[in-house]
Amino acid sequence: MEKQELLYEGKAKKVYATRDPERLIVSYKDDATAFNGLKKGTIRGKGAINNQMSNLLMARLEKEGVPTHLVEELNDRETLVKRVSIVPLEVIVRNIAAGSFSKRYGVEEGVVFEQPTFELSYKNDGLGDPLLNDDHAVALGLASREELALIRKYALAVNRVLGEIWRACGIILVDFKVEFGRLGDGTIVLADEISPDTCRLWDAETQEKLDKDRFRRDLGNVEGAYQEMARRLMGK
Ligand code: TMP
Ligand code: ASP
Repeated sequence: MEKQELLYEGKAKKVYATRDPERLIVSYKDDATAFNGLKKGTIRGKGAINNQMSNLLMARLEKEGVPTHLVEELNDRETLVKRVSIVPLEVIVRNIAAGSFSKRYGVEEGVVFEQPTFELSYKNDGLGDPLLNDDHAVALGLASREELALIRKYALAVNRVLGEIWRACGIILVDFKVEFGRLGDGTIVLADEISPDTCRLWDAETQEKLDKDRFRRDLGNVEGAYQEMARRLMGK
């Protein structure tokens, strides 16, 4: 399948049309942004790592009953996916307090929750991705109650599956963000990506951060953290 016109360029990926209206090609960039695009940089090798890691994780999730947009990896940086229209929600599951949760509620990073938390933000850069609840999402016409129930079920399944995969690699899954999309017939599938850009991943022994927080917080060795995650998950 060949790339046709560029349909969309986001902060970390480009999306191209193909000759099949139901299929798109996603191309992962090394570009990184944080704080709604205020901070910009490049993480060398990130595009290829995120592409391959996301595909491996989505293939596992499919096997565990979570439908995804994945069709086939085309090369290091590019993947053929099902065309979806993205549900404009950032779906976040947390196992341990960190990031905006710690800031918003005044909780120290590292406090372990008894149960995972499920949270939604409105995916809207102009508004700064504000937190919202199910009623707000329905009132705004972003998703139906039935879709929200399914999204919650899938997101918690993603947490269980990813948690196990990372645990086997000596990594703690602190939290993550996923996005869902609708296929032409309305079916909800997991879309976007799952990578160190979208997960908080801490070394189980040392608690060292091995994710995009190294870039967001200027912790150094950003490339090394992505490479280490690739090595642990894919042996390369
Ligand atoms: P937060 O603590 O900043 O709300 O982030 C929660 C999770 O979501 C964390 O794993 C990082 C991820 N995330 C994204 O994937 N994209 C974003 O734009 C933000 C702010 C967070
Ligand atoms: N990708 C987001 C942005 O540029 C931020 C993040 O991942 O922290 O705003």
